[in-house]
Amino acid sequence: MTDAPLIRLTDITKVYQMGDMEVRALDGVSMEIHRGEYVAIMGPSGSGKSTMMNVIGCLDTPTTGAYELNGKLASSMSDDELAQIRNEEIGFVFQTFNLLARTTSLQNVELPLIYAGKSPAERHQMALKALENVGLGTRSDHMPNQLSGGQRQRVAIARALVNDPSILLADEPTGALDSKTSVEIMALFEDLYQKGNTIILVTHEEDIARHAHRIVKLRDGKIIHDEPNTPISSEEHLAHLNL
Ligand SMILES: Nc1ncnc2c1ncn2[C@@H]1O[C@H](COP(=O)(O)OP(=O)(O)OP(=O)(O)O)[C@@H](O)[C@H]1O
Ligand SMILES: [Mg+2]
Repeated sequence: MTDAPLIRLTDITKVYQMGDMEVRALDGVSMEIHRGEYVAIMGPSGSGKSTMMNVIGCLDTPTTGAYELNGKLASSMSDDELAQIRNEEIGFVFQTFNLLARTTSLQNVELPLIYAGKSPAERHQMALKALENVGLGTRSDHMPNQLSGGQRQRVAIARALVNDPSILLADEPTGALDSKTSVEIMALFEDLYQKGNTIILVTHEEDIARHAHRIVKLRDGKIIHDEPNTPISSEEHLAHLNL
């Protein structure tokens, strides 16, 4: 039972009907991801990366095929069931951070715990610990506009992880960051991976994908490559950039 995959996609399709034209955003995708893996999903624009993220993150359901998450059949769940499984199992990180303005780092990180029904004291303690885990223990009273881009993304990562989700799902998390700050965020992801987190990272940047331990490539809604990867270190990456 322990080696059952955390994620199992079986022949997933996602078809959008545009007038009388069909767009097959995902076209027969099958893959498994185990607990503790660090996977990058790559592919050119329009290849289906975000669509696949939305299915894995329970934001959307496939047109056909089966999606099992943590032993539960997510592909046949109602919207309410999906919302619940999403809150419990998935931590999201986005390109543009999506933090609440005029709200401190600590309060931003506490937000998912309010939905989870934790007491104020528990919330405070858990959020502070999550901020410390991303190196921002001394920035808990800062507003987003008092933080650097990399620090904002760290707050978003702390918020994603505060509920101890099964999966950290990041869609282009370095897309709004300069290259040096991007490497710092990748160093944090490696650290989170070493601590046992399961990470799925969507990126169209080869350099960023090379930090993952497995690389999946999509084209026209199909998987065209799925291989283990020896990750590049942050030091090597910085040397590459001449920084
Ligand atoms: N809501 C929608 N309605 C119709 N077509 C859609 C919809 N969402 C996505 N598509 C189409 O599905 C295909 C895959 O889109 P998707 O957003 O998954 O690509 P992507 O790989 O994330 O691209 P990018 O790198 O530009 O973000 C594209 O051809 C897109 O036009
Ligand atoms: Mg996308």
